[in-house]
Amino acid sequence: DAPELVHAGRGSVWSCASCHGDQGEGAGNTPRLAGLSKEYLAKQLRDFASDERINESMHYVARELSAHDIAEVTAYYANLPVPQLMLPHSDADMERGRLLFEKGDWKLDVPACVSCHGDQGQGVGVSFPPLAAQQPEYLFGQLAAWKGGHRHNSPQSLMDDIASRLSYQDLYAVSNYAASL
Ligand code: HEM
Ligand code: HEM
Repeated sequence: DAPELVHAGRGSVWSCASCHGDQGEGAGNTPRLAGLSKEYLAKQLRDFASDERINESMHYVARELSAHDIAEVTAYYANLPVPQLMLPHSDADMERGRLLFEKGDWKLDVPACVSCHGDQGQGVGVSFPPLAAQQPEYLFGQLAAWKGGHRHNSPQSLMDDIASRLSYQDLYAVSNYAASL
């Protein structure tokens, strides 16, 4: 059974599903939550609550959640199956995206995404989130936020460094490629 927060919300907190979708699939710049690790989800919720990660909607949600709520919702979303994304044909340079994803770009000092996010972008362990079947617009938005210095909660600034060395065109290419996996 889904915790009450997921479909009903509580008080001033809207339901998670109203933004993240009935299957936790996300849409546009709202991420899929289904199948992400409990630990990663909980870390993001704590970071939103403390404004370590800045997002107004999620700040209002996260600061209302008790430790018990967080344990419940993160276990729920972690156990949902990964939904199939219906992506329209992308105008991104998918070949460039694939190269960055699989090999990185050593001229730019950028390591391959697969080295941390898994060879199929499925995520690794509990701290490296999946990129495959994540909303492409969301992925691009996060990379652009790191590049612009608006998201800075990745351990050891790993993602800040990577995103800052790539052009917006490259970020767009790799986001669309990774989402399509
Ligand atoms: C992001 C959980 C409710 C809008 C996230 C993330 C988590 C999360 C864990 C980060 C995911 C990631 O890093 O991949 C939840 C839970 C909710 C909830 C458990 C219910 C208790 C909502 C609601 C809204 C919303 C009601 C809309 C008003 C967003 C948006 C983002 C986000 C726009 C992306 C933020 C960004 O760009 O940094 N949510 N969420 N969420 N959520 Fe929620
Ligand atoms: C998170 C993309 C390479 C470590 C993320 C996120 C994106 C991303 C979009 C946010 C996911 C979400 O919010 O749900 C990429 C791309 C890469 C790349 C496109 C290659 C160009 C790497 C590498 C490492 C790494 C090489 C390790 C050295 C991480 C970690 C997080 C993360 C630890 C989680 C940050 C947190 O806890 O808030 N990555 N990544 N990534 N990435 Fe990468």
